[in-house]
Amino acid sequence: MKILLLGSGGRECAIARKIRKSPRCEELYIAPGNGGTCSYGSNVPLSPLDFPAVLDFVLAKDIEMVVVGNEDPLVAGIRDFFAENAPKVLVVGPGKDGAALEGSKDFAKRFMARHNIPTARYQSFTKDDIDKAYTFLETLTPPYVLKADGLAAGKGVLIIDNLDEAKKSLREMLDGMFGASSATVVIEEFLSGIECSVFVLTDGNGGYRILPEAKDYKRIGEGDTGLNTGGMGAISPVPFATPEFMAKVEERIIKPTIEGLKAEGIDYRGFIFLGLINVKGEPMVIEYNVRMGDPETEVVMPRLASDLIDLLEGAARGDLAEIPAEADPRAAATVMVVSGGYPGSYPKGLPITGNLYPQGTILYHAGTKLTPNGTLLTSGGRVIAATSFGKDLPEALARSYRAVEGIEYDGKYYRRDIGQDVLS
Ligand code: AMP
Ligand code: GLY
Repeated sequence: MKILLLGSGGRECAIARKIRKSPRCEELYIAPGNGGTCSYGSNVPLSPLDFPAVLDFVLAKDIEMVVVGNEDPLVAGIRDFFAENAPKVLVVGPGKDGAALEGSKDFAKRFMARHNIPTARYQSFTKDDIDKAYTFLETLTPPYVLKADGLAAGKGVLIIDNLDEAKKSLREMLDGMFGASSATVVIEEFLSGIECSVFVLTDGNGGYRILPEAKDYKRIGEGDTGLNTGGMGAISPVPFATPEFMAKVEERIIKPTIEGLKAEGIDYRGFIFLGLINVKGEPMVIEYNVRMGDPETEVVMPRLASDLIDLLEGAARGDLAEIPAEADPRAAATVMVVSGGYPGSYPKGLPITGNLYPQGTILYHAGTKLTPNGTLLTSGGRVIAATSFGKDLPEALARSYRAVEGIEYDGKYYRRDIGQDVLS
């Protein structure tokens, strides 16, 4: 099969590698890709948001399936664009209607309320009802959770300890702190517990497959301190995601989500990423995303033992129920090396040297760029994710850390405590 994958992060590098492993992969293109994806296919200098250019490329190369890695093109309606202009091309990812599960937190909360899916108590407000918003805040106990309704590059959630500060931040959000994305703000009850990510692939016909679960580490500092990042590492499996816990996730969250989408006429064909929190053994939804997680994909893809092309095609075509999704029982851990200064400002274009092909570890490139003369440079905040397997989590972590130590560039930083919270 000829496939085009859209995106340029560690997630896309992991998906590209897994597609390339399939005997069914005839041609793989990645747009725009990075310094690592070109090991698994051809990078194409196209923006995933330039739909007419993506379509021209797809038609010129006889591409049969487009896999959308990141949320922006989905929220902007790439699936709908292809349905209209090239209906024979398979697209993995929801249409604009389904992508609203990530594109609008208010829509996601209403959807969960309609289908009795467990989530934090909430209300949504615009500038016109700020007084009602203050009153609602006063009914909650701290900390206060304020969320920009729309996409905000992972930065739209504020968690604030003090009521007066929460009111002030609410005002600033409604005044445009995140542009149009925070014209509506969701205020919700704070949930206390440990988080994990569950990934489901679904086909619009009620068929779904649950992929290996993962836990990511969002803060820049050890012990989960400091600013939020895209994610500094991940592990899979997650020790507290026991069969009993996962059965609750499936019955209370996954099935009502799939059935709810169907009941509302949303033809959802793609990944659903459930950001969950374990509140005293009970799973609750923190958020939906309409794509895979990054860096969770860097542990989920290696643990997926089945053919990824079969699964993606089943989802896009609507017959996923026939296709297996087996998990490798070994533990996987990924450690992200990032640029000095990230998630604040950081330099780009620094040469990366050292051991870039460590034995027993996969280096998934994220923010890297290969120059025409073959030099590898940093080109983003998150640079490389080092993923290893082990018979258990400590062994997987030890291997990934050994590989991370062998990567060299100025200002290299990584967290040394990935996985420690679930081991202690
Ligand atoms: P989100 O962008 O919705 O994933 O939120 C970012 C992070 O904020 C989540 O991963 C959680 O760590 C935290 N968070 C969001 N909502 C809540 C909540 N209701 N209670 C506790 N923590 C939350
Ligand atoms: N690692 C969290 C995310 O991809 O949103």
